[in-house]
Amino acid sequence: MLSPDLLHEAADRFGTPLYVYDAAELDAALGRVMAAFGEARVFFAVKANSNLGVLRRVADAGLGFDCVSYGELCRAEFLGVPGERVISNGPAKSQEEYDLGARLGVTFIVDRVDEVGLLPPRSRALVRVNPALQISTHDHLATGSAASKFGVTPEQVPGVLGALRDGGHRALGLHVHIGSAIRDAQDFTAAYERLSELRGQTGPLEVFDAGGGWGLGADLAGIAREARHAAAVFDAQLWVEPGRYLVAQAGVLLTQVIGTKCTGRNFCLVDAGMTELIRPMMYGAAHPLTPLWQREPVEAWDVAGPACESGDLLARGVPLPQPRRGDLLVVGEAGAYGAAMSSQYLTRSRPAEVLFGNGEWRVLRRRETPEDIWQAELPGRFSPHER
Ligand code: LLP
Repeated sequence: MLSPDLLHEAADRFGTPLYVYDAAELDAALGRVMAAFGEARVFFAVKANSNLGVLRRVADAGLGFDCVSYGELCRAEFLGVPGERVISNGPAKSQEEYDLGARLGVTFIVDRVDEVGLLPPRSRALVRVNPALQISTHDHLATGSAASKFGVTPEQVPGVLGALRDGGHRALGLHVHIGSAIRDAQDFTAAYERLSELRGQTGPLEVFDAGGGWGLGADLAGIAREARHAAAVFDAQLWVEPGRYLVAQAGVLLTQVIGTKCTGRNFCLVDAGMTELIRPMMYGAAHPLTPLWQREPVEAWDVAGPACESGDLLARGVPLPQPRRGDLLVVGEAGAYGAAMSSQYLTRSRPAEVLFGNGEWRVLRRRETPEDIWQAELPGRFSPHER
């Protein structure tokens, strides 16, 4: 994490709430992944942090992009990332995604049997397999369980590969992504084993895409070993798609104390909440909180945001020194799915995003204005593709 002095400086210069990224931390995570997955092709899951400044840095490090929407593909195109380095993923792709994907020459991940007929002519494709396992993560984050909407069943794989080839496509291989924030490497082992069992029916393949999902603090070397092993079973090249692991620890959300209220519970009211960081409310995620002040006494506080919703709590019962208006609180591990999931609910401007690197600050996204938010609602300013 950046020093308290630097964080104070950022708050003074750019205001709060503010997303602050540390270039050194981002480069360190990129380095760890490249070291563990040296020979693999690494596609950054753009959804985790789609800021152009972050994406440019990731692309410059040689990574490709895993995109799950038309907009994310547009970002890849805008940055000039070549199609061989782009994957188009998702359970219900739009026609726009197929069209742009075809123009860029991306690899499509086929997520269901009837998607084969929708692919543009002569597509490069992988088949996403759902191994239907118990996954050790929050229910909303499990994608490789029987109850999740993703992928085809292992039994459907030979048929889909055959249909791809019959349709004149290039069936590159298999894809599996079992969920997100997974700590237990055993889950990956089980998934890769389930897919390896298909080798007898598929024969050798060009690509084995082992997905992402690595929790912070997961055993990266162990996961890499298992993924490499599975790729070898198919004589395939290994691809991976990490999101969180690459960016989470490089970012914090900086928020300022607005005031306090003690009504049986102690509320520390801050200027960021569910609109800036929805993960605590949506997944019960516990983001580490670091107060940048010291004072007595230290008590348990509920940290609440400004939204008109009781669920707008960043954390409950956290020990904090007595807060005062203007104090700064650092919400850690916010570089992934933080800014990317922020919303304009309540016509709240999404925060600015800044990066510190080489001794200087760069604004990667200015703070929105209310006018930015209602821009698309003004008569006469509708896009030519009004639909
Ligand atoms: N590949 C595919 C096909 C995915 O669906 C995902 C994430 C990833 C890769 C990257 O997973 P990661 O390495 O970041 O775990 N909004 C949630 C996370 C949802 C992840 C969805 N898919 C959160 O805030 O925790």
